[in-house]
Amino acid sequence: MGPGPVIEVDGVGKTFVVRRRAGRVRRERVDVAAVSDLTFRVDAGEMVGYLGPNGAGKSTTIKMLIGILVPSAGRIRVCSLDPSRQRTELARRLGVVFGQRTTLWWDLPLRDSFDLLRRIYRIPAGRYQENLDQFVELLQLASFLDTPVRQLSLGQRMRGDLTAALLHDPEIVYLDEPTIGLDVVSKAAVRGFLTALNRERGTTIMLTTHDMTDIEQMCPRVLVIDHGRLGFDGRLADLRAQIGGERVLVVDLAEPWPPIDVAGTRVVEVDGPRQWLAFPAGESAAPLVAAVADRYPLVDLSIREPAIEEIITRLYTSGTSGTAGSVSTSGSVNSSGAASSPGIVDSSGARNP
Ligand SMILES: Nc1ncnc2c1ncn2[C@@H]1O[C@H](COP(=O)(O)OP(=O)(O)O)[C@@H](O)[C@H]1O
Ligand SMILES: [Mg+2]
Repeated sequence: MGPGPVIEVDGVGKTFVVRRRAGRVRRERVDVAAVSDLTFRVDAGEMVGYLGPNGAGKSTTIKMLIGILVPSAGRIRVCSLDPSRQRTELARRLGVVFGQRTTLWWDLPLRDSFDLLRRIYRIPAGRYQENLDQFVELLQLASFLDTPVRQLSLGQRMRGDLTAALLHDPEIVYLDEPTIGLDVVSKAAVRGFLTALNRERGTTIMLTTHDMTDIEQMCPRVLVIDHGRLGFDGRLADLRAQIGGERVLVVDLAEPWPPIDVAGTRVVEVDGPRQWLAFPAGESAAPLVAAVADRYPLVDLSIREPAIEEIITRLYTSGTSGTAGSVSTSGSVNSSGAASSPGIVDSSGARNP
């Protein structure tokens, strides 16, 4: 695809009609608005994160983009095609990965699943081999290529699913929670791989997640959705600036040390050689890391991002978001920003495998 939008979503809504019990016999029809008045564009070659808490409407959006759900309102175009009407035509140009489901054949060794896909998509033999060799190397599949899918660990299976989604050289790849349930090492491998795919092949990638660290490590642009409505569309740095709050630098020193004194940070906890430093979420961590490394015996560090629940609460109550409108927030969330609060999640993993 040339430059310009490959995904166009205009005023899209999706309402599910559910029947629920109302009294002993009677049942009533209830409309559930999973997605409301959604509008955004994605250009060829972009890597976009679709962030929101459980039940926000992320999967519903992805299913409409693939064409397996028909919008109740609005208009979608993907590669200038209408996904629900031209689903088969579009399928060859898409790769899809659902983190909680596998598209692989449960009883077959991974290698045989791949070979079936080669035949289904009629992938030329040379191209197939080239891709397979590359993915086997990048995702380190060699040791379990001949293992039946049912015997794979979740991390191995996800790497297999990624390969399966990409063998036919799709232009656009949708991933629905690709890191959910993965261990730290597998998460890092998946994140590094997707980033490389986007940079080196120019593949357009849209991924849903409720993990802020996925966004931090992969996505220059983020869409935030809650209760079916888009609350933010822009750069991660601008999201941080808008929501305020704090991030936390977790610093491991060579030995126990008095509280670190670096301007712009605040020590919130000390545990032996480990210290937690809060800093404004809108600021870059780089100069703080440099200052710590310069003056203290630094061994290791990681950054803790605020959890999605905290971001949503701040975003939808800050009153400055353009499209959020009437969104209500769910539940109360500790937004103190302290390292020990449940509002903070661990980013742990390294940027690349
Ligand atoms: N097939 C369906 N029938 C009825 N309600 C649904 C269906 N699929 C999703 N929903 C509802 O739509 C809302 C959004 O769900 P979903 O898109 O799966 O959210 P997310 O992927 O962000 O967790 C939720 O309230 C969910 O219960
Ligand atoms: Mg989902």
